[in-house]
Amino acid sequence: MDLQLTEEQLMIQQAARDFAQTELLPGVIERDEHSIFPHEQVKKMAELGFLGMMVDPKYGGAGLDSVSYVLAMEEIAKIDASAAVIMSVNNSLVCAGLEKYCNEEQKQKYLVPLAQGDVIGAFCLSEPEAGSDATSQKTTAKDMGDYYLLNGTKNWITNGGNASTYVVIAHTHPEKGHKGINAFIVEKGWEGFEIGPKENKMGIRGSDTHSLMFTDVKVPKENRIGEDGFGFNFAMGVLNGGRIGIASQALGIASGAYELALKYAQERKSFGKPIIQHQAIAFKLADMATHITAARMLCFKAAYEKDCGQDISLSGAMAKLYASTTAMDVTTEAVQIHGGNGYVREYHVERMMRDAKITQIYEGTSEIQKIVISRGIAK
Ligand code: CAA
Ligand code: FAD
Repeated sequence: MDLQLTEEQLMIQQAARDFAQTELLPGVIERDEHSIFPHEQVKKMAELGFLGMMVDPKYGGAGLDSVSYVLAMEEIAKIDASAAVIMSVNNSLVCAGLEKYCNEEQKQKYLVPLAQGDVIGAFCLSEPEAGSDATSQKTTAKDMGDYYLLNGTKNWITNGGNASTYVVIAHTHPEKGHKGINAFIVEKGWEGFEIGPKENKMGIRGSDTHSLMFTDVKVPKENRIGEDGFGFNFAMGVLNGGRIGIASQALGIASGAYELALKYAQERKSFGKPIIQHQAIAFKLADMATHITAARMLCFKAAYEKDCGQDISLSGAMAKLYASTTAMDVTTEAVQIHGGNGYVREYHVERMMRDAKITQIYEGTSEIQKIVISRGIAK
């Protein structure tokens, strides 16, 4: 693995940094405060190719490698973790899944507009009774010959209200356990498909999260992804890559909070000197910098292995577990370093602390990552 970034990777990193500073920073506090979805900013992300970064250009993507994706995600999440999760779901859960597992017709119809960012996508696995225990799907898709009849409820769906294309996991043969699960492409507006109210969340408040209700929704047979019974392996395969996206989001939240804390510690004085000259504060910053660097390396390792076509279940889980813990620890310390100022909106770090928490919960909680890692190392 080459630790030297290429010219192209540095260019992507700079483009993402510039975009985050000029387009995401203004208004980020207001969007958080009022739970405003960043419509205009998402459009600009599409123009920059950030919504289909790793998709082959023949399907409308930017054709970049996964390390470039990590770099862009970090820069965007440094400023606005909500924009970052919208981007991560579209890239690593929806586009990546469709590109890897769909047939040509499905790719032309659904992947191209998603990769170009003309529309955005959502990935619908979680249910009220099937979160960590993802094989316990209650949503069903009954085979009716040339279509499936979809019934059930999904919850916690990111981009739930703003997406146009939904990848929905459902049981077709509950008696077969996880081998009876399938994945389907569902379009917004189909009869019987209802979107619940937006969740009022602790963090990532600029991204929208909804429950989705399906009542006798007719899904054409050609919208099933892969062979009959492939749905759970599809979901797990997609999530391995998705975890690199969320690890990078967590990395960005951590490095954004660290940069603010470092600057603050150099400027704020107490007892006649900048607080960074108090060893207690300097050591916090030393720990923060070390953990962030380690988290970045784990993200790069998983991204590199993905591009090499290796099994990334272990490296993706490790990156997500470590980066999300780092995000929570670093943002908490960043608030501490800011003292009272850390506790109010305009200094950003309190939002980052709220945003960090979700990275330990979604795309598999930290406890689930440890299950994946421990099973992997025992093999
Ligand atoms: N990669 C590839 N395949 C995997 C896998 C992985 N990481 N983990 C499990 N599998 C496969 C297994 O190989 C097995 O397939 P076969 O029978 O064909 O070999 C199948 O999945 C079932 O595996 P297990 O017997 O291990 O199933 P389990 O029920 O004991 O545990 C689990 C599975 C790992 C805990 C899984 O349920 C899981 O990952 N849960 C977390 C769910 C999750 O991450 N949800 C995220 C929703 S999306 C989201 O959150 C988006 C967002 O926030 C923005
Ligand atoms: P539970 O599974 O009920 O877990 C509760 C607690 O028990 C957790 O601490 C968990 O780690 C622990 N636990 C459970 N089982 C075990 C075990 N075997 N061993 C040890 N500990 C265990 N889902 C989607 O499908 N698509 C999305 O776009 C999406 N976006 C989300 C956005 C937000 C803001 C949120 C909050 C969630 C989102 N999710 C999404 C759902 C998310 O993936 C789940 O919340 C997560 O997987 C945990 O499931 P749960 O909430 O049902 O918790």
